[in-house]
Amino acid sequence: MARSKIALIGAGQIGGTLAHLAALKELGDIVLFDIAEGTPQGKALDLAESGPIHGFNASLVGANAYSAIAGADVVIVTAGVPRKPGMSRDDLLGINLKVMEAVGEGIRQYAADAFVICITNPLDAMVWALQKSAKLPAQKIVGMAGVLDSARFRHFLAEEFKVSVEDVTAFVLGGHGDDMVPSLRYSTVAGIPLPDLVDIGWTTQARLDAIVERTRKGGGEIVNFLKTGSAFYAPAASAIAMAESYLKDKRRVLPCAAKLNGEYGVDNLYVGVPVVIGADGVERIVEVKLDPTERQMFDKSVASVRGLVEACKAINPALA
Ligand code: APR
Repeated sequence: MARSKIALIGAGQIGGTLAHLAALKELGDIVLFDIAEGTPQGKALDLAESGPIHGFNASLVGANAYSAIAGADVVIVTAGVPRKPGMSRDDLLGINLKVMEAVGEGIRQYAADAFVICITNPLDAMVWALQKSAKLPAQKIVGMAGVLDSARFRHFLAEEFKVSVEDVTAFVLGGHGDDMVPSLRYSTVAGIPLPDLVDIGWTTQARLDAIVERTRKGGGEIVNFLKTGSAFYAPAASAIAMAESYLKDKRRVLPCAAKLNGEYGVDNLYVGVPVVIGADGVERIVEVKLDPTERQMFDKSVASVRGLVEACKAINPALA
């Protein structure tokens, strides 16, 4: 069987890390695309030269022409400008919207059958714009946010309880913004919901509330440390988990920004919800019951995503 082809649009910090992980996991042959001349070529060659040491079999090439992504099975998009200190994800909107238009056109022309994962921020609005410009069916294009947000939540919880991250599951809903909705009752340690862990004295509600707040601001915490860019290791690992579920038809249940058409009472908007990712892309949207507090937080988060999408439409009325 021929190897799968993975196209990475954007060969920056996340793009390079994606290429590294995809090669180490032998997910397929890799094309790194970027508008910056030399960057994708240099990173692809450097990574290819690590192949004999790691012992992976994957071809890695860099390109500045969209024709190089032809026939890709998976496309992961990180093209754009990352957040700088003091800049909100929303500040990125105008710049990255234009980038999504160009990238969507490239995907439509050369990789219309691919499963597309968007990472570029502000995520929920960018994936919405990318679906419009690439003209892909909604089940073939998702945004990466929830896997990252829930990984951050899991990490903080594992530290709090001094248990393995493997035994912590976390559930995060809503947009990839500071008002995302980490759910306590759907997050567990080895199946024990977090509120029960408060009851048995493992932690307190106040400590959990602080962890939720830290999760919400997890992206900003990294930006404040790095100063010249945003997180890239965990975002890349998150998108690779999604790509792997598609390529290997794993049907993992992963929180992703998916296009809702009535689910959770939301129409025509990309919002973070649990979905099943298999060979057909988004095979199912998991609709759980929300309690009144979760519903209120979810609605607030959806309202900010809607605000960003309206801002996109105002910038480019053709998207309306
Ligand atoms: N087409 C292709 N590549 C582009 C374009 C474009 N129109 N515009 C910019 N790029 C490239 C840049 O040349 C750069 O190499 O996108 C790359 C972005 O890489 P970084 O600046 O290193 O950003 P990174 O940390 O990888 O984050 C990318 O993901 O998490 C989000 O907020 C983050 O939106 C940002 C994106």
